[in-house]
Amino acid sequence: MKLPEGGPACDAVPMRRRDVLNGKHMWVYIEDLPRQVGQEVTLRGWLYNKRSSGKIHFLLVRDGTGLCQCVASKADVGDGAFAAADHMGQETSLEVTGIVREDKRAPGGFELTVKSIKQVAPSTDYPITPKEHGVAFLLDQRHLWVRSSRQHAILRIRSEVAQACRDFFSERGFVLFDAPILTPTSCEGTTNLFELEYFEGRKAYLTQSGQLYAEAGALAFGKVYCFGPTFRAEKSKTRRHLTEFWMVEPEAAYFNLDDDMALAEDFVSYIVRRVLERRAPELKALERDVSKLGPSCATPYPRITYDEAIERLKAAGAAINWGDDFGGDEETILSSQFDRPVMVHRYPSACKAFYMKQDPARPDVALCVDMLAPEGHGEIIGGGQREDDYETLRGKILAHDLPLAPFEWYLDLRRYGSVPHAGFGMGIERLTGWLCGIHHIRECIPFPRMMERLEP
Ligand code: 4AD
Ligand code: MG
Repeated sequence: MKLPEGGPACDAVPMRRRDVLNGKHMWVYIEDLPRQVGQEVTLRGWLYNKRSSGKIHFLLVRDGTGLCQCVASKADVGDGAFAAADHMGQETSLEVTGIVREDKRAPGGFELTVKSIKQVAPSTDYPITPKEHGVAFLLDQRHLWVRSSRQHAILRIRSEVAQACRDFFSERGFVLFDAPILTPTSCEGTTNLFELEYFEGRKAYLTQSGQLYAEAGALAFGKVYCFGPTFRAEKSKTRRHLTEFWMVEPEAAYFNLDDDMALAEDFVSYIVRRVLERRAPELKALERDVSKLGPSCATPYPRITYDEAIERLKAAGAAINWGDDFGGDEETILSSQFDRPVMVHRYPSACKAFYMKQDPARPDVALCVDMLAPEGHGEIIGGGQREDDYETLRGKILAHDLPLAPFEWYLDLRRYGSVPHAGFGMGIERLTGWLCGIHHIRECIPFPRMMERLEP
């Protein structure tokens, strides 16, 4: 396909020009403006901001793909339209037609010399003004807050992360094998399980992880991944916990813990490179210090054992003993010691889920791994090698006080051609939060769900 003059403005494929407005003007997206210099075009969007100086309005228009300053003079648009524009409130929807000009000083580098303005629908007293607002207020207005520049940057990076996850696995031959959301039992312990009424008095639970189903997929297809919403009834209000988040979970047959860690570091470094390459403007808008992300483009990532992590934590003054699980504070201390993600492996079996395989060389630890992001962002990946022995797994289910019946199908995977296998799960909001350099992951999903928040 031959692109029009001017070169690509962004990595999006230009939309087919199906709309010819008024018989002659082209509807274009703001991201395509660099290809349209000197042309007469129509933008269709919303009024982001406005200032006026006597006979000229500077209308800052957004259309979702970018911002464009539209310069409207009374002489060009006529008295009536000029006066009407004077009364347009923030977020009025409108169509603006004019000539595209390059102007390095303008936001986005291009502006429109306006010939005509048409209001589509009014907007008065828009609640989110350019002044500062508190986060609680903004979260109440989340359906509108997603229109603002900072949220655009974060959510576009999230979108890039999700696409990069799919591309990474697809390029490596992993089959998408999605897991159910309604499940008959827990996967990650019963303390944070959402329970609901199913039919005829039966209970169902919202999935905490697609892993158990991905294991069935791995034994069928060799290598699979699932990617969907997961739920945890977290009664904690930390900056890293949502009650609903999206997790991508690869699972591969004949993988051991080392294979799993190699996959995890390839995966994360791929996503970091991709976001740096394709989302530079968004990272800039967030004032992200990208030099901090550079080292994470390269592998290998450091690997330390849980034992070594305990030594490091003690040396840093943390009150922790062998056998304790890490909380946010410990993760922050550890991850701050490295310039790229660190993989902590072989935690005590007692802190980990029933499906983790014990290290044959040391049965008190599990063949598991957590990846901690740098700059104190904490755990982004949890995974490991799965228990593949029927009797051991059955014993672990019982030891964790879980009912056997809903796990019979899972035990079948050990009855019929069991093999070593491993996988991991990555929460994309945690990863996005780290890449964006933002403190609380609630801004990394369009509509966050937390203990105290179900709306909007
Ligand atoms: O460590 P977790 O609990 O591991 C599992 O669920 C495994 N079954 C995954 C697997 O091996 N297939 O969760 C994995 C990741 C965490 O590292 C984190 O990124 C994210 O999921 N995560 C959360 N993200 C946001 N809010 C929460 N409450 C999260 N809990 C876990
Ligand atoms: Mg974990």
